[in-house]
Parts: sequence; C-alpha cells; structure tokens
Amino acid sequence: MSHVNIQDYEKAAQALLEPAYWDYYAGGSDDEITLRANRAIFDHIRLRPRILKDVTTCDTTTTALGTPLPMPIIVAPTACHNLAHPEGECETVRGVSQAGTIMTASSVSSRSLEEIAEAASTPLWFQLYIYQDRSITINLLERARQTGYRAIVLTVDVPRLGNRERDLRNNFKRLDSANFVVNDVTQLRRSLTWKDITWLRSLTPLPLLIKGILTAEDAIIALEHGVDGIIVSNHGGRQLDGAISGLEALPEIVEAVAGRCEIYVDGGIRRGTDVLKALALGARAVLVGRPILWGLTVKGQDGVNHILELLKSELELAMALCGCPTLNDITPSLVKL
Ligand code: FNR
Repeated sequence: MSHVNIQDYEKAAQALLEPAYWDYYAGGSDDEITLRANRAIFDHIRLRPRILKDVTTCDTTTTALGTPLPMPIIVAPTACHNLAHPEGECETVRGVSQAGTIMTASSVSSRSLEEIAEAASTPLWFQLYIYQDRSITINLLERARQTGYRAIVLTVDVPRLGNRERDLRNNFKRLDSANFVVNDVTQLRRSLTWKDITWLRSLTPLPLLIKGILTAEDAIIALEHGVDGIIVSNHGGRQLDGAISGLEALPEIVEAVAGRCEIYVDGGIRRGTDVLKALALGARAVLVGRPILWGLTVKGQDGVNHILELLKSELELAMALCGCPTLNDITPSLVKL
C-alpha cells in the first residue's frame, strides 16, 4: 500500500506495533483532553488565502539558531525508538539526514548520543533532562558538545512524569536510556527551578533552548535567564492534561518575547497547512514528534524521510495556494482564530 499522508503512516504503524508500544507512543495523560486539543486547534483555525501573487516557486528554506534548513520543520525529541525499529535512533537519524533537517536526540534514547551522531549527516540538537546526580548532567553536556551537537534543548515540563493510564494498564515500563547507567537514585529527575537554568547556562557554551513553556510570564523569565530559544509545547499531551495547546499559547508568547529570541512550537503537526498556521502565528519553525515514529515503524529511514518530505511538499503547496512565495510572506493576517 502506498502512504500518501501522515495519517496513512499512523494507521499502518498501529497495525504493525505491539499494542503496548503503540499505546506508549500514541497516548497522552489522564483523559487525553490536551492530546486531542493539540489536533483540534489546527482544525479550528482557518486560512485567509491571498490570490494573484507569483507563486511559481515557493521557498521553504530557513535557519534555526543560524543553521540553514530546507524546511521550517525539526524533529522533536522522543524516547525509545528501538520499540519501532531494531536500530532505533540511528535508523531515524539516517532518514532525517536524507531530508536534511535538524534532529533533536532525546536524552532517554535507546542509542547513545555518540552512536546517533556517528550515524548522522545532518545537524543535531541534544534534549536534556536534569537528574538528581548533577554529574550525570555535566557529563551529558560535555559529551554532547564534544560530539558536535549544536544546541541543548532543556525540557522543563516534567517535574514529575504525567499520568499515562494506557501505560499503567499495559504495565509498560520504559527501557533504560543508552546514555547512562541508571540506578534508583540517579533515575529520579530533579524538580527544576530557575536557579538550575542559571547553573546550566554557565555550564555550556552551546545555545540553550527551553522546551515546555506555555505562558508569556514564563517566556519573559526565560529571556531574563539568557535562553536562545523557546519551544512552546505541552509535551504532546503527555504531561498536564487540560493544558492549552502550544498553538493557542503561541501568540501571547510571541508578543511578550517581541523578537528577542527564536520561538518554536510543537504538538499535533500533521499537515503542511498546520506548519503554515504555526508560522503565521509567529513560530520560526515547528517540531514533529509522533509522525517520525510512524515513519520509522513502517519503513525505517525511508519512512522517516518520507514523513518529512510529505510535510515539506504539503507546506510548499499550502504556501502557493495562500499566495506566499517565501516564509516571510506568512503573516498573522493569513489566519482567522
Ligand atoms: C515525547 N516527547 C519527549 N519530549 C522530550 O523533551 N523528551 C523526551 O524524551 C520525549 N519523549 C517522548 C516520547 C514519545 C513517545 C512522545 C510521543 C513524545 C515530547 C515530544 O518532544 C514533543 O513535544 C511531542 O511529541 C510533540 O507532539 P506530536 O508532534 O507528537 O503531536
């Protein structure tokens, strides 16, 4: 069967994956209200297309923290790719390399950050959790820098793990990360405070992005702590159920930040028109999580590449139909909230 869109990949992945693995990838927390809201908001927002512009070619190229990208689409950090493919994140990164965009490697990946870098021929960002034992964080940061990762993405929306009831029912326990040897003490994530951001900022020369901000208030404090970028996110509906979607939070954050750092958004991006809507509301680029896992499950690296190529070509078509030959032409007037 040929897969013509992300939904086709999603269905195929569900048929292929162990049910408990599918649930781990697809699920959210509690009643999955936020998980559904992440999709619903994109259906709700409508476009105001402009006509009679020369859209013979539409240019999707951009930069993220100075790195040139073929499309404003970046791979979000997701854990445990070995549930989808025996080569895990190494296979994923080969597909992302074909597409030529940035992959964010999760700190709880099933392949080590060095193995992922070895398999990659595309720029990488490293997603960080901070653990009780500070030496683990220091060690991860140093390894990421030495291996050529270009930015650190600190995830701040997991002071505790969300209540994932599908996983409880399945008695699903996530596998250990390949990045470090875990024991009961170090496995505990620290409940972070802004002091940790100051500490982290002083530890690494790499650009620092904060992932998991949903309010203008926190965006301002993040700026005061010298972050280089903000990823507006509710963790794919896997943490606080009832939290607003990233897309809904985006406008107030864009307004508060007023161009002082780059702003990204994730959650529910499944179509080129979704990317267009996020950019119209002020995102520099979007991150995609689950669709990459569906591509990986169904066709390994080619599936991952295809997912990214689908999003890119759908975005290019949407730009043409909206009268936007460049990404700069995508402005707030394009959407009706
Ligand atoms: C995630 N996410 C995530 N985020 C993070 O910062 N570190 C991580 O290790 C993980 N792991 C993870 C596993 C799985 C299976 C999923 C689905 C998600 C959240 C992820 O980065 C991103 O915020 C969401 O996945 C974006 O939403 P969509 O694109 O999946 O709808």
